[in-house]
Amino acid sequence: MNVLVTGGAGYIGSHTCLELLESGYGVIVIDNLCNASPKSLDRVQELTGKSLKFYEGDVRDEALLTRIFQENEIGCVIHFAGLKAVGESVAKPWEYYDNNLNSTLVLTKVMKQFGMKNIIFSSSATVYTADNEMPLRETSRTGNCTNPYGWTKYMTEQILSGMATAEADWSIVLLRYFNPIGAHKSGRIGEDPRGIPNNLMPYITQVAVGRREELSVFGDDYDTPDGTGVRDYIHVVDLAKGHVAAVRYAAEHKGCEVFNLGTGVGYSVLDMVHTFIDANHVPVPYKIVDRRPGDIATCYADPAKSLEKLGWKAELGLTEMCRDSWNWQKANPMGYGE
Ligand code: NAD
Ligand code: WQD
Repeated sequence: MNVLVTGGAGYIGSHTCLELLESGYGVIVIDNLCNASPKSLDRVQELTGKSLKFYEGDVRDEALLTRIFQENEIGCVIHFAGLKAVGESVAKPWEYYDNNLNSTLVLTKVMKQFGMKNIIFSSSATVYTADNEMPLRETSRTGNCTNPYGWTKYMTEQILSGMATAEADWSIVLLRYFNPIGAHKSGRIGEDPRGIPNNLMPYITQVAVGRREELSVFGDDYDTPDGTGVRDYIHVVDLAKGHVAAVRYAAEHKGCEVFNLGTGVGYSVLDMVHTFIDANHVPVPYKIVDRRPGDIATCYADPAKSLEKLGWKAELGLTEMCRDSWNWQKANPMGYGE
């Protein structure tokens, strides 16, 4: 079966393309490269010894999508394409609502025209409200998002579940990712943020490799064991395997179902820094600074439903996540730019 992967040249998309190829699926990618390098896909093909088909273009381009569906027999779509920087979304709400909502609307319109109604969507733990008890279950409260990025994820979930209500032959899987980090163990593909990283792990690796002077730890006065923020970090290869499980699930189930993809374990910022230093024997200078606006103290998943229904659980631990993140950054100090 062929899987159309939107945003497949990106961080999670490239790792998922690799796992799909390894699992015997044909892979077709559409990506406009607004936040990715095509080298990621070259390397996926090198690593797997298998080829995939790449269309450079925008998911909002209906004519291009129509051509892709005409030229290929597609059995499932994984929809990663989107803009993802929380702070940027506050400054550029138009771009975020346009890109993230219209891509989904155009994509599902063309899917419907071709009678292909299996879709996996990249949602986020950010859709959960801040006042939930931990761990977060799929039934925990959602909404009250604090930025346009989060609203696009929340609204896309509503849009897709509305389609499943309207037409009983859709198979829709909403995957709520927690905090993906790490890289393929080869060190050939990984996360390559443009500009100053917003997220913790790429910031740590850029400090370790000498691109940034020191890490700022955003607050040490949270109500957590060491005062720093606690998150559910998940290895990107585990996350990618979760998508393969979701493709299988979508082939067998109609309707709209939501799953957490996390480990169920929370680690603090200082746990991350110390595990990274111990695993890789490199210094990571840091200083404690004020809290970052919008951050919450603690966020971690209950991944039980994913185990029960997708037969998936995260296998890789924090040491592997830190080792593989460093392995990628060390081998590619400037990301794909080198
Ligand atoms: P990424 O930026 O590396 O990948 C997204 C890809 O989509 C990029 O390759 C980009 O070039 C492409 N793209 C964006 N808009 C497009 C468009 N209109 N048409 C075609 N291509 C387009 O990000 P990622 O970390 O791999 O995230 C993938 C998905 O998972 C995103 O939807 C993101 O919101 C979601 N997500 C990410 C995280 C995370 O922490 N990385 C957490 C939760 C959810
Ligand atoms: C993790 C922890 C920070 C950077 C974000 C999005 C979320 C999802 C995943 C897409 C927090 C601390 C960070 C730094 C730090 N993305 N930190 N210094 O905020 O949990 O989630 O990415 O859906 O929507 O909001 O991830 O990696 O930014 O932060 O101390 O330089 O690290 O305060 O406690 P976050 P993060």
